[in-house]
Amino acid sequence: MDERAIGLFDSGFGGLTVARAVIDLLPSENLVYVGDTGRYPYGPRPLDEVRQFSRQITSKLVSEHDVKIVVVACNTAAAAGLDGLAETFGVPVMTVIEPGLRAAMRATSSGRVGVIGTVGTISSGAYQRAAASLDPSGDIDLTCAACPGFVEFVERGETDSDQVYVLAERLLAPIRTAKVDALLLGCTHYPFLARTISDVVGRDVVLVSSADETAFELRALLDHGLGPNRAGQGSHTWISSGDVSTFRTLGRRLLGPEIDEVQAWEPRSA
Ligand code: DGL
Repeated sequence: MDERAIGLFDSGFGGLTVARAVIDLLPSENLVYVGDTGRYPYGPRPLDEVRQFSRQITSKLVSEHDVKIVVVACNTAAAAGLDGLAETFGVPVMTVIEPGLRAAMRATSSGRVGVIGTVGTISSGAYQRAAASLDPSGDIDLTCAACPGFVEFVERGETDSDQVYVLAERLLAPIRTAKVDALLLGCTHYPFLARTISDVVGRDVVLVSSADETAFELRALLDHGLGPNRAGQGSHTWISSGDVSTFRTLGRRLLGPEIDEVQAWEPRSA
């Protein structure tokens, strides 16, 4: 047993897709979520700046909340590189990249898999590297496409407007051309746009979110080493670097009633 909390972070609301899966699968675990809504989007930022943000947030989760593991619920932060986070802060760190890709590889029949993500994630080559290590025989044919603008729509709470649809039609054209049968939503914000994305790529393409798979892998880590918490109902702490009342209102709409009080955090400039 280890009653310490699980720490999760994202640039904003996207990591709530992972938090939802963790709450559902591991209801006894305490959870601390940091949404860096004051500095989103991470996608267009230089990778070394994103790495500094990850360091700052991990430091906060470890020093102020004594978390037992940090889940980087943001593909862009993971793709920017963890830069020795686990060693520096003496805490295990997991990301959404490998769990998501493993799920997409299981979902495809044709071997043609699409991955969509932010400009930072796609241009980092993180998914291509992960595919090379998870699929050394090269059976998977990966088509990656960046979708700049998607995150901003979600952060505004605009998940099914005509404008998102028009943008999706343009950005997802290479995915349609590649005739993939599984599409990994390689940004934790994108599951909130799943209906629009599915409309555009076609219903026969399986959309894969990394959230459930990350929760399953987290449970395995807790059960085989880290130590789960089985003491009743877990507590949930929500922290935002942006406007806390917006985080509460939109967060409740996107995640559910577990988001109640939201704590403000003002990161010093990285
Ligand atoms: N949810 C983040 C991700 O998975 C979005 C990053 C951003 O803020 O651009 O990449």
